[in-house]
Amino acid sequence: MQDKGILDLRNLPNDEFEELWKRIVLPDNIKTQLQAQVLLELTLRTQITSKAAVPLHGIILLVGPPGTGKTSIAKGVASAAVSALNNAKVKFIEVEPHNLSSSALGKSQREIRRFLEDVITEHAKQGPLIVLLDEVETLVSDRSKMSMEANPVDVHRATDAMLAGLDNLAARFPQLLFIATSNFEGALDPAFISRADLVLRIDKPTREACEEILKDTLTAFSEKWKEIKKLMTDPKFQKVVEEAEGLDGRQIRKAVIGALTLSIDTVLNPNLLTNQMLLKSLKQAKTIKL
Ligand SMILES: Nc1ncnc2c1ncn2[C@@H]1O[C@H](COP(=O)(O)OP(=O)(O)OP(=O)(O)O)[C@@H](O)[C@H]1O
Ligand SMILES: [Mg+2]
Repeated sequence: MQDKGILDLRNLPNDEFEELWKRIVLPDNIKTQLQAQVLLELTLRTQITSKAAVPLHGIILLVGPPGTGKTSIAKGVASAAVSALNNAKVKFIEVEPHNLSSSALGKSQREIRRFLEDVITEHAKQGPLIVLLDEVETLVSDRSKMSMEANPVDVHRATDAMLAGLDNLAARFPQLLFIATSNFEGALDPAFISRADLVLRIDKPTREACEEILKDTLTAFSEKWKEIKKLMTDPKFQKVVEEAEGLDGRQIRKAVIGALTLSIDTVLNPNLLTNQMLLKSLKQAKTIKL
C-alpha cells in the first residue's frame, strides 16, 4: 500500500507524462524556460556551495485559472526534463493535499510534519525526486488573511509546519524539487511564494494556441474518423477558432467532444461532425462562467 498522503508514485521519464507535455500548447519560450528550470534544480543546484549567495529552495510554482494546463504541465515538464538528462532516473510523487489537511485540531500540523519528515525524506534519501503539490493553497494558506475566529489556529500552524518542513528539506536534499500549482494566487502565503525559485503564470490560450488545441483534439478523433480531418482545412474553421478565444484549454477540448453530442447521428458516426456544430458547442461553453 502507498503511504498516506501519496496519490501517485512512479519513475521518470514516463510515457504518459511525455504525452501530456507534447500535447500542451504554450509559447515555446515558456516551455523552454520551465524545462531549463527543472534541469537547473536537478543538476546545477547540487554544485552550489553557498546557499546564502545562491538561495535555491527547490520549488517551482505554477499559478493561473482553472483548466489552463497547470497539472499537465507540472507532470509533463518533470518527465521531459529527466528525458533530456541521459539515462537519469528520477522518482515522481504526487501529493494528496486533502489527506494532509484535516479539520481536527492540531492534526494538519502533525500530518504535514510527519509527511515531510518521514515520507518525503525517506524517498529523497534514495535519489533525485520531484514532488507535485497540486492545489497547494490547501497546504500554504495565507496566514495574514486568516481570522482567528473563522479559521482555527490549526490552519495557521499547518502553513508554519509546511514552510519549516520545506526549508529543512531544501537544506538537506539538493536534488529534491517541488512543483506546486494553484488557482488561487491570492490565497497563498507570501512566504511560500517568496521561496519559489520560479513563479510562472499560466494564462488562457492565445488565438494561435486555441487553434492548435482545437486541431490537436480534432486530430486525435481523425485517427479513427478520417472525415474529421477535412474540417480543419475548410475556411469556416477560422470562425471556430475565433469562437474558442477566451475559453481555457480544458473547455476547448471538451467543447469538441460536446459538439459530437449535438445530434445522435454524429455520436454514432463522428465522421458527420461539421464546423457549424463545433461553433455551436463552443458558443454553449462560453455561456458558462467559471
Ligand atoms: N495550453 C493548453 N494546451 C493544450 N491543452 C490544454 C491546455 N490547457 C489545458 N489543456 C487541456 O485541458 C485539460 C485540463 O488540464 P489540467 O488539468 O492540466 O489543467 P489545470 O490548470 O491543472 O486545471 P485546474 O486548475 O482545474 O486543476 C487537459 O486535458 C489539458 O490537456
Ligand atoms: Mg490542476
